[in-house]
Amino acid sequence: MSEFLLAPSILAADLARLGQEVDAVLEAGADIIHFDVMDNHYVPNLTFGPIICQALRNYGVKAPIDVHLMVEPVDSLIESFAQAGATMISFHPEACKHVDRSVQLIIDSGCKPGLVLNPATPLNHLDHIMHKLHHILLMSVNPGFGGQQFIPQSLDKLRQIKQLIMHSGHNIRLEIDGGVKVDNIRSIAEAGADMFVAGSAIFNQSDYQQVIQQMRQQLAL
Ligand code: DX5
Ligand code: ZN
Repeated sequence: MSEFLLAPSILAADLARLGQEVDAVLEAGADIIHFDVMDNHYVPNLTFGPIICQALRNYGVKAPIDVHLMVEPVDSLIESFAQAGATMISFHPEACKHVDRSVQLIIDSGCKPGLVLNPATPLNHLDHIMHKLHHILLMSVNPGFGGQQFIPQSLDKLRQIKQLIMHSGHNIRLEIDGGVKVDNIRSIAEAGADMFVAGSAIFNQSDYQQVIQQMRQQLAL
């Protein structure tokens, strides 16, 4: 479980060339494709749904697709994302009435479930559900937009979640999302994260391989 995984967020990609952009980041060394689903209801922005996920699979993308649902309600999209080729599906507990039921729906649909905590979401949302989780996603910005600044208090929250994971005895990945860059990824890893979402830090560069290598070098230090 010590392997670090890099998950570029296609929110920052050139969406008119999405298939090629995904190919390019995977060839550049990315592990996972992070897929931000926004509904203009739970968050004040609107992105893409299952048909785009299916389009990536039809195009030939084989890498894991990490679907981050910023939607309310949650359950009605789980099965359609599973059928569209999602590998992991995470959601925000505030957007959901029955967290255990939604996690179980993700498992039953054949995907790996994750719970997402916003910067101000208390950690007790993890109580009684950790045993079913594949990953916990900590937002280090408020959800809804790419290109925001990493909130520094997230490091302390990461350490607390890492402790909870270790005490739980379960193999749970700890994913961080928002404002991840070459110059802060090392301190984020030291605080306990092992999956890193990065949108603007990767897609705003012309050389994806270079920035991904720089991130890996920071993680290897
Ligand atoms: C924000 C999204 C993030 C976002 C990250 O609501 O969940 O995945 O795309 O973008 P950057 O890396 O630019 O902060
Ligand atoms: Zn995200």
